[in-house]
Amino acid sequence: MALLYRCYHFILKCIVLIIGVPNPKLHRGPHALANAVHALDLSEGSHVLLVTDKTLITLPVINQQIELVTTLGLQPIIFTDVHANPSIDNVEQGFACYRQHNCKGIIAIGGGSVIDCAKLIGAKAVKPHKAVSEFKGLFKVLKHLPPNIAIPTTAGTGAETTVAAVVNDPKAQLKYAATDFTLVPHHAVLLPELTASLPAHLTATTAIDALTHAIEALLSINSLAFSRQRALQACDIIFTHLPNAYSNGADLHAREQLLLASFYAGQAFTRTSVGYVHAISHQLSANYGTAHGLSNAVLLLPVLRWYGRRIDESLAMIARECRLTSLDYPIAKQAEDLLLHIEQLLSSMNIQTHFTELRNEDIDTLAREALNEAHPDYPVPFFMNLNECRSILHAVSVTA
Ligand SMILES: [Fe+2]
Repeated sequence: MALLYRCYHFILKCIVLIIGVPNPKLHRGPHALANAVHALDLSEGSHVLLVTDKTLITLPVINQQIELVTTLGLQPIIFTDVHANPSIDNVEQGFACYRQHNCKGIIAIGGGSVIDCAKLIGAKAVKPHKAVSEFKGLFKVLKHLPPNIAIPTTAGTGAETTVAAVVNDPKAQLKYAATDFTLVPHHAVLLPELTASLPAHLTATTAIDALTHAIEALLSINSLAFSRQRALQACDIIFTHLPNAYSNGADLHAREQLLLASFYAGQAFTRTSVGYVHAISHQLSANYGTAHGLSNAVLLLPVLRWYGRRIDESLAMIARECRLTSLDYPIAKQAEDLLLHIEQLLSSMNIQTHFTELRNEDIDTLAREALNEAHPDYPVPFFMNLNECRSILHAVSVTA
């Protein structure tokens, strides 16, 4: 079975190598949004669908960006009906609004859910006769989306640069992921002032989500020079700037750096996919509603420690690149220095080490579901068996 999985991973790697994943044009600095709007190249007065959510639209800082879009000559049509886990209906309603107002482009301002919903509204705009559920899987869009911009309001998911969009089908109780290179937003705009009001705990857990993307991308057997470089940059930025952003949310330099790290980590993992931390974490979120960043933060060290000495080279490389160790130390000690640094970072931000919601009787099912998700999709460096996955879940339950 392992050989079949590896063949599948090799095919995924070839697709990335041969076709090449596009990158959004990145806009930073004081004129970031203006530059992105100009780059859309839409005629004066064009309608653009502005996708956000009901909470964000109440914030003055979001309305300032919407006013700026108007000042720049576009007419934003505001669509806020996006749930925390966007549904098929949200996408359909957004598309109806797009069509009704004859929009020529899409601007998403929000977290991963808003950006994912906007990606799928764009997919519907170019494939109006396809049901949203038909975008499920690989390469079901295959058509350029209308000109679009993604503006993240959290620094973690990297949705502004990834090839995937997730949508919920509440009737069928299913979650679909559409994956297509055309879903990568055309422009990504990093505005640190949009993340300044995030509470410290959320700042911490979303940044650890980005750190997990970077580390899982580095561990992936499908990692290539570009994804490795981006993942290492993301780790370095997070270790350097997360403590400041956590302790002083108004530090806009630290906030901007975390947005950049999330973008880089997104560029890395969208080429390599993620690993067991995400596979297990998704089961916690699906079954108990545990926040994604938090479940990754709890699971990151137990999964890395399960790999043991087998991933020392990769962990040591991260430790050296991020100046967390001495070049004179043996590889095993360098790797351990990284793990200790992550442990201290998590503890300094009061991140829990166990899940109170995790029930002993659920562990077997959760472990099976996690491995079903990981195999064969995630090109992990070594395979985990069911007993090992159960042990990790037991270790992070409070009854451990
Ligand atoms: Fe994630």
